[in-house]
Amino acid sequence: PTPARRLTGVAAARAVASAPPPAVSMTETAQDLLRSRVVAALTTAFGPDAAANPMLTPATKAGFGDYQCNAALSLAKKEGKRPRDVAAAIIDALDVSDFCEAPTVAGPGFINLTLTPAYVSGRLNAMLADLSRLGVTKRTGSAAKKVVVDFSSPNIAKEMHVGHLRSTIIGDSLCRLLEFLGHDVVRLNHVGDWGTQFGMLIQLLREEVPDFVAGTGELGDVDLGDLVVFYKRAKARFDVDPAFKEAAQREVVALQGGDEVSRRAWQAICGQSRVEFQKLYDTLRVEVTERGESFYNPYLADVVADLERQGLAVEDQGATVVFLEGAQFTNREGDRQPVIVRKSDGGFNYATTDLAAMRYRVQEDGAQRILYVTDIGQSLHFQQVFQVARRAGFVPEKVSLEHVPFGLVQGEDGKKFKTRSGDVVKLKDLLDEAVVRSRSELEARLAADNRTESPEYVQDVVSKVGIAAVKYADLKTSRTSNYRFSFDKMVKLDGDTAPYMMYAFVRTQGIYREAGGGRALEDMEGKDVAFAYPVAAELALAKTLLRLPEVLAELERDLCPHVLCEYMKGVSTLFNRFYEQCPVRGADSEAVKESRLALCAITASVIRRCLDLLGIQTLDKI
Ligand code: ARG
Repeated sequence: PTPARRLTGVAAARAVASAPPPAVSMTETAQDLLRSRVVAALTTAFGPDAAANPMLTPATKAGFGDYQCNAALSLAKKEGKRPRDVAAAIIDALDVSDFCEAPTVAGPGFINLTLTPAYVSGRLNAMLADLSRLGVTKRTGSAAKKVVVDFSSPNIAKEMHVGHLRSTIIGDSLCRLLEFLGHDVVRLNHVGDWGTQFGMLIQLLREEVPDFVAGTGELGDVDLGDLVVFYKRAKARFDVDPAFKEAAQREVVALQGGDEVSRRAWQAICGQSRVEFQKLYDTLRVEVTERGESFYNPYLADVVADLERQGLAVEDQGATVVFLEGAQFTNREGDRQPVIVRKSDGGFNYATTDLAAMRYRVQEDGAQRILYVTDIGQSLHFQQVFQVARRAGFVPEKVSLEHVPFGLVQGEDGKKFKTRSGDVVKLKDLLDEAVVRSRSELEARLAADNRTESPEYVQDVVSKVGIAAVKYADLKTSRTSNYRFSFDKMVKLDGDTAPYMMYAFVRTQGIYREAGGGRALEDMEGKDVAFAYPVAAELALAKTLLRLPEVLAELERDLCPHVLCEYMKGVSTLFNRFYEQCPVRGADSEAVKESRLALCAITASVIRRCLDLLGIQTLDKI
């Protein structure tokens, strides 16, 4: 254990004294408060232009205070002055004495800003006032947005692969975050339930169970449960049997023309895979509303007509296309790249459907922000359709369109993620495997501790931990990087894993319960605690805890769940240090004990909230 650093002199006196909270806003984040003060100082000292970017960030190192302002460096260049002089001039104009220590200049001209313990205590009490919100205010008025999150979106009868798993996990986490912040979120599953593959599927169904398709019989023993296999059979026929191929192509036309029999077969197929998808959503505890591609069918012709009317869509080699603007869509010869919105056979495609969906989401859903969570391979598609939608006025400028791309999942060897036999990994098998692995982890640990637990307990823990492990491993990687899937790593109890974080929660809560004489976390809620920080570790923990609203604001903007994982890891590391150095039950005084109990309660609640935002359930015991 690291030795405890005791605060000395003035710092110690201040830290213990229960000074009244300063008269600054306790609902605003420290970063927001500081930003407005720094902006004011920059404006006073160097004019409004200088204040455009205050360059205020959380400090990169512990010795640099809590936040730092790096504006002096670039400003010095512009002003032709020495950075340290510019920094001094900013400090002269800066008034933060009501919640910060005196600012200092470090290095070439960074301004270090340190929050006062009295301010920290005020904020902690604000967190304590409502442990479910922890000082995170709900967006209201114009800050509360209608957000459409388009995620998961597997394709019927095609492989639901690990990319769809990522989309489901990341999308769900973003929805949870936005919902928690008070936005009105519409969770949409843009299922690929339309397209030419249905021709083959329906034709095979017609051949194998004609009575069912005709509406006079049951499905019989045709196993649509594994639609992928059914699809492979249909595809095999399609490739070798010209008569089948022709019939399948006729089926596509019949289905699109609204033929009743074809529609019934299509519905049976979709219904079947819906059941399969739902099992997965239940396992993952993900809620999403299905609004597949077929939903937009009635709008496609009109979308194209509208594009034509506006002169945006033109005929090109029999197809109807929109030529894109911008250098990235223009080749060296100056030819602009087209997006096809109606194929030469008259059919519409993926892009047309997305255009119709955007228009619908703006006009009918009233969306103000639309997010698309898909793999990075679709970036070009979204750039294209976003541009067309803007130019056509389907999506006004004030509505934000954001592709939220993620990287590939790779095997442990860095190659394509496949089973040993080279097949695509089935999602169900993958999740089952995670549960099996966490079971052996848990059983080994129980054996080592000579602990016996009921089979029900073990089952409950491993099913939660296994799924949590998969989610956390996915979410902790920077979204756009590829990541290597490793069962062994993600079920470990030590390291940057879900089990570790779940264990951290159990531990913080346990310490609180034990030292607090069996009280539950919620008993601390609403108390006005005179926080004291005789040991440096507790002030460090406190300051990190009150960053929660800032971290969530960053996520709200950048949509990067790994930042939340990093934050939670920081909290648990600081909590461990606090726990080593700051006895709770054996604290020097009742006041210090109460302060530490409150820190435990807030820490536990912060970890629980973060895990919840990642879609992970906490356990009371592990
Ligand atoms: N079904 C598509 C796929 O599996 C993803 C759909 C994403 N959403 C959208 N609106 N294009 O690749």
